[in-house]
Amino acid sequence: MILVFGSLNIDLVAQVPVIPGPGRTVLAPSYQTHFGGKGANQAVAAARIAGPGHVRMAGRVGRDGFGDSAIENLRENGIDTALVIRADEPTGCAFITVDQAGENAITVASGANLAASAGDLPAELFRSDTVLMLQMEVPFAQALEVARRTNSASGTVIWNLAPVPEKMTRETVTELLAETDYLLVNEHEAIDAAAAIGLALSDFESAAADLAKAGDLTCIVTAGAQGALAVAADGSRLRAPAPRITPMDTTGAGDSFAGAFATVIHEKVPLQIALQVGCDAAAQKCLKPGAQAGMPLRAAISSLA
Ligand code: RIB
Repeated sequence: MILVFGSLNIDLVAQVPVIPGPGRTVLAPSYQTHFGGKGANQAVAAARIAGPGHVRMAGRVGRDGFGDSAIENLRENGIDTALVIRADEPTGCAFITVDQAGENAITVASGANLAASAGDLPAELFRSDTVLMLQMEVPFAQALEVARRTNSASGTVIWNLAPVPEKMTRETVTELLAETDYLLVNEHEAIDAAAAIGLALSDFESAAADLAKAGDLTCIVTAGAQGALAVAADGSRLRAPAPRITPMDTTGAGDSFAGAFATVIHEKVPLQIALQVGCDAAAQKCLKPGAQAGMPLRAAISSLA
């Protein structure tokens, strides 16, 4: 089973000519409403590859219409939502601007996501075949507890260190590394995490190697058009190229990678293929607007043919 403990958001997305800097206002002709949240995005990405009945989502939404539709959308994607629980706070909402090159800027109003609780998860979820996916949009202490319970049952923990917290302490990164089997980061997140635990700063590849060694784990770096890199604790490396595409919306590309990667790790495919599947899924997502709406189905992933 693939278990996601994380955020559910509604994304309000405006296409803008240029993403505004501080003190600036830009006009967009309209906006679109999409299903988002890194946790829910990764759950949908996994379910589109794994098929119905393999993914369970745990998290919190508000007692509002956004919460109703976020849950309904996960169900339509074949995801078990019994552990998506209502909170008193409003459903999380992300305000996203996307520019003409498909790049984005995101502000998340966390709302109900901050009420996500490890206590919501029953013991039977934690088994040796559980692949747990975590991100950084619900309280860290709760995510850490879920990771510890997964490890106690000899399950597999995939932790996407995104978004990097404003204040990421040495303690946070050390605790996270200790509970993680596969650390998923982009180039900037790799360098930020390495800096937080006092490692010498250089390029993202060295940072990934240092993180892998420090945590005795495999560090996967997603590097956009440069593809993905996996570095094991012993320093050995694998690479996968990114398909050449012209992106229209990169929102959720990292989540698409993460969900597809988790699914094939659950299926025990070799790491080299899992890396390529992740790159293919991320590229496919970038061809469509919206986070979850753009997640590819298994048939669209050429490395799984
Ligand atoms: O990774 C993309 C996601 O980040 C968006 O869907 C938004 O909700 C934020 O959580």
